Amino acid sequence: MLDKSSAPAVNVPNDLAAFWMPFTANRSFKQAPKMIVGAKDMHYVTSDGRKVIDGASGMWCSNAGHGRKEISAAIAKQAEELDFSPPFQFGQPKAFELASRIVDLAPAGLEQVFFCNSGSEAADTAMKIALAYHQIRGEGGRTRFIGRERGYHGVGFGGTAVGGIGANRKMFGSLIAGVDHLPATYDRAKQAFSIGEPEYGAHFAEALEGLVALHGANSIAAVIVEPMSGSTGVLPAPKGYLKRLREITQKHGILLIFDEVITGYGRLGYAFASERYGVTPDLLTFAKGVTNGAVPMGGVLVRDAIHDAFMTGPEHACELYHGYTYSAHPLACAAALATLDIYRDEKLFERSLKLEPVMAQAMMSLKNEPNVVDIRTVGLTAGIDLAPRADAPGTRGYDALNRGFHEFDLMMRISGDTLALTPPLIVSEEQIGEIAEKLSRIIRAVA
Ligand SMILES: Cc1ncc(COP(=O)(O)O)c(C=O)c1O
Repeated sequence: MLDKSSAPAVNVPNDLAAFWMPFTANRSFKQAPKMIVGAKDMHYVTSDGRKVIDGASGMWCSNAGHGRKEISAAIAKQAEELDFSPPFQFGQPKAFELASRIVDLAPAGLEQVFFCNSGSEAADTAMKIALAYHQIRGEGGRTRFIGRERGYHGVGFGGTAVGGIGANRKMFGSLIAGVDHLPATYDRAKQAFSIGEPEYGAHFAEALEGLVALHGANSIAAVIVEPMSGSTGVLPAPKGYLKRLREITQKHGILLIFDEVITGYGRLGYAFASERYGVTPDLLTFAKGVTNGAVPMGGVLVRDAIHDAFMTGPEHACELYHGYTYSAHPLACAAALATLDIYRDEKLFERSLKLEPVMAQAMMSLKNEPNVVDIRTVGLTAGIDLAPRADAPGTRGYDALNRGFHEFDLMMRISGDTLALTPPLIVSEEQIGEIAEKLSRIIRAVA
């Protein structure tokens, strides 16, 4: 049991006992808290007054950097003007304006937006729309979902079930029934130190034909994948892989869902990765970068034809029995509109694309540091695999995270012994160099 009487190790004023932190090593954190009290542009400020460079956009969220006045002013104005209005049976103008702005950014064909509050809700919403769509068209037998090993789609029951991370699943029973998984697209022996999409691996998509043969096409509702798996260590789709998934899903009447919670809003140099790969899914989920992380928001872009299939029946009746109290919350809409203005005015998606080779070169310079067994880069993102310690897998990555924050003033993300770097799109070339230089010292420190 946690010792509630013990004082925190650093000068934080609070009693840390009551907050059960999400996806956190709680006991370890509370002995040496990584406490953040402020943020501006590329930096966080710690409770002991240090500036820590943000190599992670917080958590893949703050693509425009921190403390953006335009966003906080828009939120404050909105709170004064209209703090909340019910999203069921009532509307507020910014929700409609925002939906149109997002559709304008999306690939042609995705013309409708359903709002929710997080990436997890977006995954579950997309899955429910897929099920309902098949049912109203008389194909109610299509109830299965295909996810992918090493995929992450949040923590709802649907998203957890289609996700492919053992630790996230194994304590939670049978989740939802009828889920199968494609293999992950990663093969270190064939792909190590790839810059951009690996040449090897399009054939991993063919496994879908195997699953169709196993379960029957007419039992499968949808396939859900991230164009680049982020949470399990930055695994870009191999060249041609997503196109092939699109062909196979189309052939069998299976819907394709792209989870762009990380890849949306500029991370891979485009509004959505779908554009980068020239592949349009049937449903596309987003969250995080839509508000620059400033207010929770998520959503699902949906093909017109799917939406239109619901627009039947008596006009006084709801067409889809799904939604959240905070769908299209006024503060989130205001934050998102201000965020999209910044992305447009500062050309941040283009900037991300321009910086991609700079990021790749800086990260690949770490190739010969101790224990580095692979580096992958795509867009403004990199994954660095460190060899696990023989007796304690995961501890090298965890030490890198902690020492990076406490001793080297760098925030990163980790997945086991993989370090993930994904800085705000406002990062300068010098700051990319600074991040690489700090990483080299951290990697040596945890050798
Ligand atoms: C691809 C992907 N989908 C879904 C989620 C879940 O988002 P949230 O934590 O906002 O529920 C995440 C979060 O990292 C993600 O990376």
